[in-house]
Amino acid sequence: TATSAPASSAPIKVNSQNVRYSESTIETDYFYDKTIVSVDASGSYSAKPAKVHYQFKTQSNVGKVGLMLVGWGGNNGSTITASVLANKHHITWNTRKGVQEPNYYGSVMLASTVKLGVTENGENVNVPFHDLVPMVNPNDIVFGGWDISSMKLGDAMTRAQVFPYDLQRQLYDLMQEHKPLPSIYYPDFIAANQKDRADNVLSGTKQEHLEQIRKDIRNFKATNSLDKVIVLWTANTERYADIIEGVNDNADNLLKSISESHDEVSPSTIFAVASILEGSPFINGSPQNTLVPGVIDLAEKHRSFVAGDDFKTGQTKIKSVLTEFLVNAGIKPIAITSYNHLGNNDGYNLSAPAQFRSKEISKSNVVDDMVGANQILYKKGEHPDHTVVIKYVPSVGDSKRAIDEYVSEIFMGGLNTISIYNTCEDSLLASPLILDLFLLADLMSRVQFRTSSDSSKPITEEKWEPFHSVLSILSYMLKAPVVPPNAPVVNALAKQRAAMENILRAFIGLPPNNDMMLEHCAY
Ligand code: NAI
Repeated sequence: TATSAPASSAPIKVNSQNVRYSESTIETDYFYDKTIVSVDASGSYSAKPAKVHYQFKTQSNVGKVGLMLVGWGGNNGSTITASVLANKHHITWNTRKGVQEPNYYGSVMLASTVKLGVTENGENVNVPFHDLVPMVNPNDIVFGGWDISSMKLGDAMTRAQVFPYDLQRQLYDLMQEHKPLPSIYYPDFIAANQKDRADNVLSGTKQEHLEQIRKDIRNFKATNSLDKVIVLWTANTERYADIIEGVNDNADNLLKSISESHDEVSPSTIFAVASILEGSPFINGSPQNTLVPGVIDLAEKHRSFVAGDDFKTGQTKIKSVLTEFLVNAGIKPIAITSYNHLGNNDGYNLSAPAQFRSKEISKSNVVDDMVGANQILYKKGEHPDHTVVIKYVPSVGDSKRAIDEYVSEIFMGGLNTISIYNTCEDSLLASPLILDLFLLADLMSRVQFRTSSDSSKPITEEKWEPFHSVLSILSYMLKAPVVPPNAPVVNALAKQRAAMENILRAFIGLPPNNDMMLEHCAY
């Protein structure tokens, strides 16, 4: 059967003296424009444009890359694996409306386009996002992973009840070839109601668990002849870990706590540490604080990559669009009230208070940056009321319902109420994000840069540096983005997308996109 590869346009070659191509790299000179603002004693602003010279070097040979999912047999894990297989083998299926083709809808990288530029006649030229820079073809991803449930992937797909029967039927044998590796189960971290699933767990100490996971990553890499492995947590939401001085506050203490099997080290943190020590990028798709300060410290020391937290899918994604729109339109949201109900295993796990609390935290800060940026509407410290409720309703299964009410203050004291009812297959929203997170994390591990603070002088730095260990460029896909120390968190979706687009453009030496359209302003 033919492969259904993501749509691609012709390769992009940038003709510029600032871009140099070699057999295995793309190197660019890039001038980053910023505006330095200072405030004087009288409170007036002084703004000064500045340029910073960067050089970027991107490895254009993508190699063979593996993706190991923690929670592989869950709804997301089985859905993304099945989807890629369906695309790879071009499996079509019958629905009551006719034949359905596999696709990558919902992935920004694979199913959206960016404006590359304009023709000489001023017409926009749009290209697939993933064509800007060399990226892994998703159909070539080698999947692996762990689950505390021993169910093979074919049966896990059936258990998930996400895909229609005719697709499940055709994928079953291919999926059933895969079985998750035994995983780490500390009952205290996930809901007690998950206990019945846990028949595939490692015995031993926390140190032995760490060593086993490291070994699993190494074996997977060697067995499949991979150049790189990326590890992504899509397992159950855990409770928060307490941050305790001397326990998980820095890299050395965290490693020591693992060697002493300290109670506050969660399974997800052990996976993050194992990935870092193996040089594998680690992404946390769930809300808990896996990336405790000790993990970030360790990643920085090893120059390894981490990203998190919590896939930004339905309700929160809309919130980070709608609030941005309202606040930027000069309208003042005063109350955002969100209800959810869902009936999959994620909902079952979240019906326990400590796990719900992790989700509540990750959902609650999503409008902070937009509110904080508008001092006309909000006084310092003022915030809209923001409530999040999640209920488990088994019969709706994976088809999550989200009901939101936005009450805003408009002109001259008037009120505006917007109500939204959002229904969607939860795992079909999250799975394409797994691909975006994977594709970008892989790309960022292939890029290095060097810089000079003064663009009028040549770059004297010889050494190329990787990006900071905390990959905030992945924020678009994450509800509660973890960012490098002291960096601002951006939740506004349009800004997050612009950042991805413009950083990728910088890697091929193109200026940031803007929609000024000056070419159309003259008669
Ligand atoms: P799920 O409950 O179907 O799958 C989770 C899997 O993780 C299960 O198979 C479970 O056995 C396994 N598991 C639990 N602890 C484990 C451990 N320590 N090691 C290995 N495996 C373990 O849940 P689903 O729907 O796939 O969601 C996964 C995660 O993604 C959840 O934390 C959820 O909150 C998060 N998420 C999902 C979104 C969505 O739209 N589906 C959106 C945002 C976050």
